[in-house]
Amino acid sequence: MSESDKHKPHSADYFGEQRNFWWNQDFLELMGKRWGLEKVSTVLDVGCGIGHWGQILADILPPNAKVTGIDKEAQWVEQASERAKALNLAQRYNYTQGDAQELPFEDNSFDFVTCQTVLIHMKYPQLVIKEMVRVLKPGGLLVVVEPNNLVGSLIFDSLSFGDSIEKICLWVKFQLICERGKEALSEGNSSLGDLLPGYLATANLRNIQVFLSDKAFSIFPPYLSKEQQVLKQEYLDWIRQNFWIWDKEEARKYFLAGGGTEVEFELGWQQRMEENKLLEKALIDESFHTAGGSICYLVSGYK
Ligand SMILES: C[S@@+](CC[C@H](N)C(=O)[O-])C[C@H]1O[C@@H](n2cnc3c(N)ncnc32)[C@H](O)[C@@H]1O
Repeated sequence: MSESDKHKPHSADYFGEQRNFWWNQDFLELMGKRWGLEKVSTVLDVGCGIGHWGQILADILPPNAKVTGIDKEAQWVEQASERAKALNLAQRYNYTQGDAQELPFEDNSFDFVTCQTVLIHMKYPQLVIKEMVRVLKPGGLLVVVEPNNLVGSLIFDSLSFGDSIEKICLWVKFQLICERGKEALSEGNSSLGDLLPGYLATANLRNIQVFLSDKAFSIFPPYLSKEQQVLKQEYLDWIRQNFWIWDKEEARKYFLAGGGTEVEFELGWQQRMEENKLLEKALIDESFHTAGGSICYLVSGYK
C-alpha cells in the first residue's frame, strides 16, 4: 500500500458494484437446501466488509434469522449497516467492529458461522477457523467461501488466447511471486481455498463438504446485460487507475517480498500496463470477450 493509501481500509479496492454480481441466486438457494439453512436462527458473518456475503444470503435464511456481521474496519461496519437499511434488512442485520482472530462472542453462540474471501487475508487462517468453530453451537454449521486466485492467471480471453507459452508462464510466475510475497508479509495467501477441507478436518468438523461456485464472469460483445456493463466499467476503471489485482506499490511490495527483483518487477508491470491499454481498446471497440472462469470454493462442516 502506498503512503497516500495508508488509511485506506482493508480491501477498499474490491468493493465495487461488480461484487453485487458474484453469485447466481438459484445456486445459493440450492446451497441453502444442501446445508439445511432453514433451521438456522443465529448467524455470524466474519470479516463482513460492507455486507455483500451476509446480505445476499438474506433470501435463503429463515425470515426470523438474526445476522451479526463483524469486521475490523469501522468504516465497513458503518457502511454494512447503511447497506442493510437500504435493503430493508436493518431489523435482522446488526454490524459490529472486532477482530476475527479473537471474536468478541461467547463459546457456542451461533447456529451458522460463515466468511467470504477473509481467510485469504489472514496470517493464521487456522486460528481464525478455530475461533469461528469456538463461537459455533454444537451441531452448528461452518461455511468458508474462499478462492484459488492464481487460477485467474490461466483464464484466457480474446487477447491472451494466442500468447506464447513463455509469456503465459511468465504471467503465472509473476502473480505467484506476488501471492507468495503477500503471504511472506503475513497478509494471507490468495489461493488458500485449496487447503480449506483439510483445515476444517483438523478443526474436528464433521460431514465436511466441498462445492464450487457455478458463477462465471463472462463478458462478450455487445455487453448488453447490466452485469456485463458493470464488469466492463470495472475493467475500464481499473485500467485507467493503472490497477492490476493490486496497485503498483502494493504489487511491488509483494513481488519483492516473494523473491522477485526490482528490475523484473518494473519490466513485468510495464508489460501489464501495455496489456491494459490493449484491453481498454478492445473493450471500447467491443472485440474483447472471455468465458471468465474462476475457482471459488464453498467448504462446509458441522461442529
Ligand atoms: C475481501 S474483504 C471480504 C468482505 C466480505 N466478506 C465480502 O465478501 O464482501 C475482507 C474483509 O476482511 C476484513 N478483515 C481483514 N482482517 C480482519 C480481521 N483480523 N478481523 C476482522 N475482519 C478483518 C477486511 O476489513 C475486509 O472487510
